[in-house]
Amino acid sequence: MIDRGRLALLRAEAHRVLAGNWRQGNLADGTPYGFTCPAPPRYRHQWYWDSCFHAIVWRHFQPARAREELRTLMRGGRLDGFIPHTIFWSDGAGWRRAPFYATHSLRGDRGTAHIQTPLLALAWELVAAQSPDEPEFATEALDGLRLHYDWLARHRDPDGDGLISIIHPDESGLDDSPKYDAVFGWMSHYLPGYFWLVERSRRLRYDSRAIIARYDEHVEDVMVNVFYALALRALARLTRDASYRDRAVRTEHALVERCWDDERGLFWDLAGSDHTPLRVSTWSSLAPLALPSLPEPIARRLIEEHLLHPRRYRAPFGIPSVSMEEPSFRAGWHLFRCWRGPSWINTVWLLVPALRRFGYESDADRIVASCIKLVERHGFREYYNPLNGEGLAARRFGWSTLLIDLLGGAEGRARTPSDGPFVGSVRDELRSMGAEAAGEAARRLNRRAAAAAAAARRLRPG
Ligand code: GLC
Repeated sequence: MIDRGRLALLRAEAHRVLAGNWRQGNLADGTPYGFTCPAPPRYRHQWYWDSCFHAIVWRHFQPARAREELRTLMRGGRLDGFIPHTIFWSDGAGWRRAPFYATHSLRGDRGTAHIQTPLLALAWELVAAQSPDEPEFATEALDGLRLHYDWLARHRDPDGDGLISIIHPDESGLDDSPKYDAVFGWMSHYLPGYFWLVERSRRLRYDSRAIIARYDEHVEDVMVNVFYALALRALARLTRDASYRDRAVRTEHALVERCWDDERGLFWDLAGSDHTPLRVSTWSSLAPLALPSLPEPIARRLIEEHLLHPRRYRAPFGIPSVSMEEPSFRAGWHLFRCWRGPSWINTVWLLVPALRRFGYESDADRIVASCIKLVERHGFREYYNPLNGEGLAARRFGWSTLLIDLLGGAEGRARTPSDGPFVGSVRDELRSMGAEAAGEAARRLNRRAAAAAAAARRLRPG
C-alpha cells in the first residue's frame, strides 16, 4: 500500500496542477467556457484528448469541473457532430504556431478542423458515474454524443471496415511516433513538410472523404480505434442503444482480423488504400489489451512477449512509447519529438488495468510504483525518460495526474514499496533539467564517437 501521507501529497499536487491550469470565462457573444489547459505557457488551449483525461481526474476532486470541461469540449464542436482537436477559447493561436495548426485559415478560427483520439463518451460515462449531485449529466448530451460518433463513422471510415482513419499524424495525439515515418515521410509532424500536409487539407476544406480518396497518406491507427471502440461501448451503455455496442464489436473484430500479426505477436496500424501494415513496435501495438473482448491468448502474447520483455517495454520507469529494441527508440528529450521512446502517464493509465485483469498484479504494481517515483522526484511532467527516470518537457502537465486515477482516485488502493518523501521542488526540477541536458549531450557525443570509430574501422585497409 502507498501510505496515506504520500498519497495525500500526490493528490494535493495533482489538484494544484489541474487548478493552476484551469481557465474559465465567457466569449464576447456570452458563450461560457471552462477547461484545463495542458501546460501553460506552451499548451494554452483546449485539446480534445487532454480534456477527456483531465475530466477523468477532476472527477475525484471537483466533479463540477469535470462536467464543465466535457461540456466545454462539446460546445467547441459543430452541429454536425465534428469536435476539433484543439479549441482556442481565451487565446487565439500565437502567430508563430498558427500556420502549423490545422485550421481553415491562418487567423480567426475558433478551433482546428482535424480530430483527436475520440474518447469523449468514455470520459463522459466515468464523470457521470461520479455525479450523484447532477444525475441528469448522464443523459443531457446524448444527442450530441451520438452525432459525434456518427460523424466519425461517416467521415472517417469510407471503406466501411469498422476502423476509422486519421489523415494527419497528430490526430492520434502521437504526433511524431516513428510508426508514421514511412507514411508521412517529409510531411511528418516534426519536419517542415508538415506545413504542406496541413495546407493540402486546407485546400480540400478538410473534407476527409475527399482527402482519403485523393491522397494515400492516411492511417487506420490501432490506438485510435481502441479508444474509439471503448467510447462506443460507453455510448451504448449511456444511450441503452445496442447498435453502438455492435459497432464497437465490429471495430474490435476488425482490429483482430486485420491488424493482428500472429507471427510478430503485435498489432500494426494500416496505411493507405491498400492497408499496408506499419511494422514499428510502439505502445499503440499493445493498446488492444484494453479491449474487453480481446482473446486471452493474444493478450498473453502481448504481455509476455512485449510489455514485460526486458529488451522491449520492461523499462525501469513507466512504459516506453516505443519498444527499446526499435532502431528509432530515443529515451531522452527533443524539442519536436516526444513519442519516440519517453514514458507517458496516459499509456500507463490504459495498459496497467489490463495487466491486472490478466493477473499480472505484481508487474502492474511495479510499473505504478515507478511512476509514483517519477512524480515524487520531478513533479507532473509531460513525459519521462524510461531508462533513467528524468522528468522531461512541460512542467505541471495536466494528464500526468491520471496517476491519481490509477491509485484508486479518492481512496488510494495501490500497493507500492515505500521509498522516501515527496520532493518535486524547484531545486529538484532545476537539478533534473541540468542532468537531462548534460545526459543528452553526453549520449550524443558517445553516439558520434562510436559512429566515428565504426567509420574508421571500415576505412582501415584489410
Ligand atoms: C502534444 C502531444 C499531444 C497533446 C498535446 C497537448 O502535442 O503529442 O498528444 O494532445 O501536446 O498536450
